[in-house]
Formats: sequence, C-alpha cells, structure tokens
Amino acid sequence: MRLNGAVVVITGASSGIGAATALAFARRGARLELGARRLEKLNAVAEKCRKAGSPDVNVRLLDVGQRASARAFIAATLRDHERLDVLVNNAGVGWMGRAHEMPEEKVDELIATNLKGVINTTSSALPWMLERRRGVIINVASVVGFRPSPYSAVYSATKHAVVGFSHALRGELSGTGVKVCVVYPGVTGGTEFFKAPDQPIGFQYPAWWVANLVVRTARYPRRDAMVFPLRLADVAEPVFGGLMDHAIGEVRRRSVPD
Ligand SMILES: NC(=O)c1ccc[n+]([C@@H]2O[C@H](COP(=O)([O-])OP(=O)(O)OC[C@H]3O[C@@H](n4cnc5c(N)ncnc54)[C@H](OP(=O)(O)O)[C@@H]3O)[C@@H](O)[C@H]2O)c1
Repeated sequence: MRLNGAVVVITGASSGIGAATALAFARRGARLELGARRLEKLNAVAEKCRKAGSPDVNVRLLDVGQRASARAFIAATLRDHERLDVLVNNAGVGWMGRAHEMPEEKVDELIATNLKGVINTTSSALPWMLERRRGVIINVASVVGFRPSPYSAVYSATKHAVVGFSHALRGELSGTGVKVCVVYPGVTGGTEFFKAPDQPIGFQYPAWWVANLVVRTARYPRRDAMVFPLRLADVAEPVFGGLMDHAIGEVRRRSVPD
C-alpha cells in the first residue's frame, strides 16, 4: 500500500503509541483522522503531524466503547475524504492488580474500550471497505494477547479477545481484499499506560518503535506483527513478511476457489 495521500484513521491518538503512530504516518504523507476523548491533546498531536508532512489532519471526539460515537467517527471520515485506507484500532486502557479486587466499573471500562471499541469501529468501517474491496484494519493487541500476565487478568482477557476477533474476522474476509492484522507491543515507554511513576517495569520499547511497526504493517499487511528488538526487523519484515503473505496467498488461491 502506498501511504502518501492514503486516509488513515487512528483511535486513541491523543497519547502514547497512537500519537507516535499518527506522527509516523504523517511523515509518509498520509491524511489523518485522529480520535480520542481528550480534544486538547489530540489538537497538539495534530499540529505535530501537520509539521511532519501530513497534508490533512482532522481530530474528533471519540469514545470507542460507544457504538454511536464510533459510527459517527467513521462516517465523518468517509464524508471528509470519501475513502478509508487504513483503520488503526489502538485505543486501550489497562488495570493492574488482583482480579477479584478489580472494581466492576473498571472491568466494564476495559471490556468496552479494548474489545467493544475494536468491534465498534471495525463494524462501522467494514461496509465501505467491503464495497470497495480494499482496506487494512490493524488492531493493536499486546504480548499479553498470547501470553497472559498475572495481575492483568481482565486486560489479558480483552487482548486475547481482540486477537480471537481479528483472526476470525480475517478468515471471514478472505478473498474480499480487506486485510486484518494484529500488532503485539511489549511494554512500551513514552505512553500514559503505566500511570504510577514508581511502577517497576524494566525494559521498555519506545513508542516510535511500535509506531514504525504499525506503519510497516499498513504497507505490508500480514496476520501477526511482533515488535522485534532489532533494527534489522525494519529490513527483514517487509521482505520476509511479504514473501510469506505471497506464499500463503498462493496456497489459498490454489486450494480455495473464490
Ligand atoms: N504501553 C504499553 O506497555 C502497551 C503494551 C502493549 C499494548 N499496549 C496497547 O497499546 C495501545 C495504546 O496504549 P498506550 O500504551 O499508548 O497508552 P496511552 O498512552 O494510555 O494511550 C491510550 C490511548 O487510548 C485512548 N482511549 C482510552 N479510552 C478511550 C476511549 N474510550 N475512546 C477513545 N479513546 C480512548 C486514550 O485517549 P483519551 O484518554 O484521550 O481518550 C489514549 O489516546 C492500547 O491498546 C494498549 O492496550 C500498550
């Protein structure tokens, strides 16, 4: 996919990985629709994106957990641009502690944001994408989406659910031209995710590292994109990921007639 001029929608773009991803797409000349609940922060990110080279940046209030809000967000994008090339479902919230001590409203918030949020925006964008037979959906999960982490039981469950939703949907959309990809960040710094400043969290990937992986995934869509601790990945992933996708596509084409 050529990113210059492409319309890229990013949820949760007001901080952390979402903001870094917006900037990374802006540097490649993409047009951006950024959504989150804090407009002031979104505006600051948008300003940076314009300076970085994006020809068109819009910001909108968005609560991904509310179906109506997600629908309105995607509808506004399509009204503005009449196209939607990449949807990055990045908005997410965490909570650490013992599962049985987690307040019910936090449980509801995690499920609404991390899981329902992805379903809401995806379902809103899919009719347009399916009609045009193109589009890339990138869901930001987490390493806990395949390796559950103690004291993050509900968070791990929501990220497992995002992975399950994405892979099932990918199968459902096979042959339609619409791609579904999952990105799995590890612990990432430069974000607001770990709110307690004294939390011992050890090695952290910088947010721009994850952002570059999201951009590569948009350019070379693949089922699963891991965050590798090597710059070599910048070179290797597009080549080998692309070859793998091609090989898998060939096998599918030969074995499953349209
Ligand atoms: N940081 C890590 O170590 C790490 C590791 C693995 C995966 N992840 C995942 O990466 C994604 C981004 O997180 P981050 O690390 O960049 O944390 P962050 O800095 O806290 O960013 C989270 C973003 O989600 C937005 N958001 C939260 N609830 C929302 C809602 N209901 N509607 C719309 N936007 C909402 C926030 O904006 P508003 O508050 O303005 O709405 C913010 O822009 C999340 O899905 C997270 O689970 C993070």
